[in-house]
Amino acid sequence: MQTNSSHSQHLGTRIDREAAYWDRVYDSEDGEFQNCSWMEYVEQTTFNARYFRKLLARFQNKRILSIGGGIDRIGVELAKQGHQVVCVDISPSASVRTGLLAEEANVAHRLVALASSCEEMQFAPESFDVVVCKRALHHMDIRRVIPIVYSLLAEGGVFLAEEPVCLSGLVRWVHRRFPFYGDQPHTPDEKELTFDDIRFIKNAFASTRIIHFDLIARESVAYQLNKRRWNRLLHMLGRADYYLANRLVPPLKPLCNYVMIYATKS
Ligand SMILES: C[S@@+](CC[C@H](N)C(=O)[O-])C[C@H]1O[C@@H](n2cnc3c(N)ncnc32)[C@H](O)[C@@H]1O
Repeated sequence: MQTNSSHSQHLGTRIDREAAYWDRVYDSEDGEFQNCSWMEYVEQTTFNARYFRKLLARFQNKRILSIGGGIDRIGVELAKQGHQVVCVDISPSASVRTGLLAEEANVAHRLVALASSCEEMQFAPESFDVVVCKRALHHMDIRRVIPIVYSLLAEGGVFLAEEPVCLSGLVRWVHRRFPFYGDQPHTPDEKELTFDDIRFIKNAFASTRIIHFDLIARESVAYQLNKRRWNRLLHMLGRADYYLANRLVPPLKPLCNYVMIYATKS
């Protein structure tokens, strides 16, 4: 894959900030950035995480591009399941560690980890059947990344993402008034997806399903439950949120904090 250097200069500041921040996170074994354990906790215990894995389980023997996967355990898991996986993350440290994980899992022949910005990916068109992105799109310029993702997908290909959203004025006001990041890594440039972002994604793909999560089990609640290790309660709340927002009371959707995006190219 090549990158375009004039774009690199143009994007310099934000992209460089992201790369430097995440390199520090992924380089550290302890200390300030040990809070990565929070992300692992979310990954292992929440209803959303299991739901995401259920959606991934639909795919067999695919060419998968995983973007912004950090130390990409999901990418390695997919390679273990027999998929051909390419992981692209802005952090060189993350890419090295993803490569090491793949070696440890004996799947290095099925996984390539590249350090690059997804806003500059230049693979051949239609190179992938699935593009996966977990909690990373909101660190990128969606208007640049989504058209690239679309062009990289083969006909019938799927884009699957999970991202934080802010879809109502009330939620936006609450987030501004009471910002909450807990111990989780947080960069100055990241921003939750807006209604316009979701519409942009919907317009880009032939069909898009948006599934809403995190109504009661929002991050501040999850953080407190995490501290007490009340995993089962957090999982139950996550399940309740899913049914409430997506099945029983759809008007609650704009109050949810996370969405999963399941978009198909044709
Ligand atoms: C919140 S972390 C999520 C990591 C992982 N997906 C997870 O769920 O634990 C955001 C990730 O996006 C990556 N990232 C940010 N901007 C990026 C860009 N322009 N291109 C590629 N990766 C980027 C960061 O390096 C980081 O690994």
